[in-house]
Amino acid sequence: MFTRRSVLIIVLMLLLVALAACGGGGDSTSSQAEEEAVAVSSGDPDAGKEQYDMLCIACHGPGGEGIEGLGKAFTTSEFLRERSDEEMLEFIKVGRPSSDPLNTTGVDMPPKGGNPALTDDQIIDIVAFVRTLHE
Ligand code: HEC
Repeated sequence: MFTRRSVLIIVLMLLLVALAACGGGGDSTSSQAEEEAVAVSSGDPDAGKEQYDMLCIACHGPGGEGIEGLGKAFTTSEFLRERSDEEMLEFIKVGRPSSDPLNTTGVDMPPKGGNPALTDDQIIDIVAFVRTLHE
């Protein structure tokens, strides 16, 4: 027979198991580690540089110093420093048209830098490279 007390103990034990499964301990499995890495910075800066040199360089310059009248600098960008990879991904997918009230230059930042074929993974790689340009 289950007494009220034993039910309570069972519930408590289930809670403990659930807590442990949520990563309470430090021994996260490799799949959990991968998921966390995606959220922080998982891109490959070398692969990102290849895309950057084809796409972004024309407006943002070879060292991310920006080009007057074309693209902003990454070297000093607060925007880049304050945003997570996920937020950067969302931004780059949409761009920032000159009609956007947040636009600071009156020049369009085209969605995906003008290449609609860019995948999310490629953009994350580009973000990883662009972060290396920040001073
Ligand atoms: C046709 C020119 C052009 C291309 C190509 C281009 N950008 Fe931009 N980008 C801009 C302009 C212009 C802005 C500034 C928009 C504004 O005035 O707010 C900008 C802004 C940005 C910002 C925000 C910077 C900040 O500090 O606010 C990021 C990040 C960015 N671009 C990333 C990229 C990436 C990554 C690529 C390549 C995939 C790329 N851009 C390609 C013109 C371009």
